Amino acid sequence: MEPITTEVLEMSINEARSAISAAPTIEGPIRPDLRPRGVNHLAISTTDMKAQLTYWADVLGCPTKALYWMHGVDNTFHGFVELSGDSYIAFVQHPDNPSDIEYGVTHAANPGAPVTGGATQHIAMHVDTLDEVLAMRDRIRSHGIQVMGPIDHGMIKSIYFAGPEGLNLEVCCGSDIDENQWIDPDVQALCGISGDEVERLKHPDPIESGEQPVAQPSTDPSKPQMSYPTGMYEAIMGASDADIWNGASEATPPVPLTE
Ligand SMILES: [Fe+2]
Repeated sequence: MEPITTEVLEMSINEARSAISAAPTIEGPIRPDLRPRGVNHLAISTTDMKAQLTYWADVLGCPTKALYWMHGVDNTFHGFVELSGDSYIAFVQHPDNPSDIEYGVTHAANPGAPVTGGATQHIAMHVDTLDEVLAMRDRIRSHGIQVMGPIDHGMIKSIYFAGPEGLNLEVCCGSDIDENQWIDPDVQALCGISGDEVERLKHPDPIESGEQPVAQPSTDPSKPQMSYPTGMYEAIMGASDADIWNGASEATPPVPLTE
């Protein structure tokens, strides 16, 4: 495993330039209402991969599906536990992960407590029925973990409990929330959202799929950006999609299948 440094990235890019593989392009029609339809993996930092995988298997019944060197990151493990075939919790154990918890800053003390903007407040996982919520409550309690609930929130019914390393967890059932009932005009006004704006939020523009890929925009400090060391960010965003595809992809599993 080599860490991604500017030098490694430039080597990868140069290697990629000599490769014949082009970046993937859109092959078929894209439906206008395309949007992300679920969480493929929610990546959570850990300082104890074994403890997390064990909790998620024993307490919640989520099998471990992957445990491997995180691609392009030095000395770092990535461990995936499965919620469903297209939804995972993916732990990341970086050697420099701090273990200190500062409630209100790094973690929320409970599912209603304050925490830094952008940080995880709590994680709610889906089951289909209230019976299944209750069965999960019993499974969790049978492992000595205390559970609050169920609580009926109208559009979902929930139980709440704690996971390792200060995780605030929820299991709930419920779907197809009716925005005509659940967008409170008082809260909308407190958020500074006008009537026109809330209509746009409720009905986003359809996706536009053109003949040609959209070019990488130039760096705009007013837009959100990932944070990388100086030079590396510019190298990454200045590289072509083909360079990144060829230079950064690592598609071979660590364990070959035997017949
Ligand atoms: Fe929640």
